[in-house]
Amino acid sequence: MRSEKIRKKFIDFFLKNKHKLVESSSLWPKDDASVLLTTAGMQQFKPFFLGIRDPQIDLNSKIFVSSQRCFRTSDIDEVGDATHATFFEMLGNFSIGAYFKDEAINLAWKFLTKELHLNIKKLWATYFIGDKNVKTDSETVKIWKKFLPEHRIIGYGAHDNWWGPPGKSGPCGPCSEIHYDFTSQPCVKKEKCLPNCECGRFMELWNLVFMEYYLDEAGKLSKLPFKNIDTGMGLERLALIMQKKQNIFETDLYSTLMLKIRQNKIFGQVSEIEDLIRARIVSDHIKGSVFLLADGINFGNKEQGYILRRIFRRALDQFQLPNIDLNFIFELVDVVIKKYAKNFKYLNHRRQDILDQMKIEFDQYSKVLKLNIEALVKKIKSENSKKQFGEQTGPSGRHLSAHEVFVLYTTYGLSPDRLKKIGFNFNTNEFEKEVEKHQAISRAGAEKKFGGHGLNSSKLSPEQKSKMTRFHTATHLLHQALRQVLGKTVKQQGSDINYERLRFDFDYPQKLTQDQINQVEKMVNDVIKKNLPVTFEKMTLAEAIRRGALAFFKEKYPENVTVYSIGDFSKEICGGPHVKNTSEIGEFKIISEKSSSAGIRRIKASIQP
Ligand code: SER
Repeated sequence: MRSEKIRKKFIDFFLKNKHKLVESSSLWPKDDASVLLTTAGMQQFKPFFLGIRDPQIDLNSKIFVSSQRCFRTSDIDEVGDATHATFFEMLGNFSIGAYFKDEAINLAWKFLTKELHLNIKKLWATYFIGDKNVKTDSETVKIWKKFLPEHRIIGYGAHDNWWGPPGKSGPCGPCSEIHYDFTSQPCVKKEKCLPNCECGRFMELWNLVFMEYYLDEAGKLSKLPFKNIDTGMGLERLALIMQKKQNIFETDLYSTLMLKIRQNKIFGQVSEIEDLIRARIVSDHIKGSVFLLADGINFGNKEQGYILRRIFRRALDQFQLPNIDLNFIFELVDVVIKKYAKNFKYLNHRRQDILDQMKIEFDQYSKVLKLNIEALVKKIKSENSKKQFGEQTGPSGRHLSAHEVFVLYTTYGLSPDRLKKIGFNFNTNEFEKEVEKHQAISRAGAEKKFGGHGLNSSKLSPEQKSKMTRFHTATHLLHQALRQVLGKTVKQQGSDINYERLRFDFDYPQKLTQDQINQVEKMVNDVIKKNLPVTFEKMTLAEAIRRGALAFFKEKYPENVTVYSIGDFSKEICGGPHVKNTSEIGEFKIISEKSSSAGIRRIKASIQP
């Protein structure tokens, strides 16, 4: 049964059971600052689970079915094994305060055994054994006993049977997983070889989450307004079972890609197993790149852009150097689009943009690859030892500190994977922590400015304060104008104001043309001349996002925020202060536009009285 048919069977089954079909949402959840990417089908239902929105009013139903495109970075190092991918599709059914455990388990059982006719003997179920906050889920055990012998119903703690929230806060709850038993033969662990055993005998197939709790940022658990169901089953894994394959890369969701890659011998003289693993990494990462780009994410050094850059460059890192060929990558892109375009229709429209962005990134990375890496490493190591910065690694040797890897990455774009490949060693976790630390510092800096641009400083004269306030409002106008001229993917990455100029950083992959700069400048001045009122309103963060206010300082927003509007032109969450009318700003002039770091542009602008 091909994947198209499996997907359709799942959707049809739930339609038959009165669920409403919803389209997959974007991989880039723009109105949820708590996560970077969509990692599960529940993402688009979050406002319903939280009770912020009513599904009956918005979508005329309380029960839904979807096939959601998902991306998980947590599994990146696992890609290459039998069942892990960064990009995958999740089949799911959802209930917002309608049915709960009994119906969810009944529906799942019916679909697997009556629709797909899976062998009942191969199925096991798990449940939550409870912890200090929530008691044992004996209700679930009771329901499963109708279908399974007791010895195939296994209890686990929160590590395996508590789901969510993705991010620091959000809806969550105990879950019951359905596992598929491939061999029925226990491994050396004998009777302890049970679902979640790492020997490969079992594969988690379907996760049924009983979503009735909410975890807040302080780690406090409370009940959601109603009891919800969120289920997720990986299409790739289900295809593996239905097509009787050993791993997801042999299913029709990857087979054409895999064949094309392996036939072209792009990895040089490597062992058979190495060739296979590299082909899996390339097929997963190119597919992931296509889907991230298609959803409007651009290559960059931060957040979503960082993830995209990391996987695309990691795919290129698998090739033997002289064999890297952009046209071959483009052929792989077309294989992906052809396979998925029927279900994800937007892919065809996004094709040219995907190729254009990839070309820019490819050219940029090709330059990096031509650098004399050994010499660069030597230079960074000697600077590091002079500054006595962080872990000392000595001027020579193959060991690098996390800070050195970070500098090589941000300054020269050298990916950690490439450094590993050419024999440098370092602690990847420490490197990731370094990235996070720097992102947190830049966010905190941005937040400080965002909270008032230092305007409360008593050292400033009233004239200086007034000039900075005018710059602050002009910054909002610039931000919106950039989004209108360059596209909605432009995102603020930083802002700094003093009384002489404003500085605005945003992600965009290329230098702006003079024409684009002129258009932006003109748009800002046109709005200024319209004498638009600048107003603000206080509201909840959820409401602000619902109304389309721009919000980019992730996670740091309080629950209640102020939204500043400049006529109908711009709406942004902000701490102020601002001018009362755009006429106070004066004439806006862009002084410079240049790169601030890889993938990030920096504009400086002045205003004339
Ligand atoms: N949210 C759960 C998961 O991701 C079920 O969809 O596994």
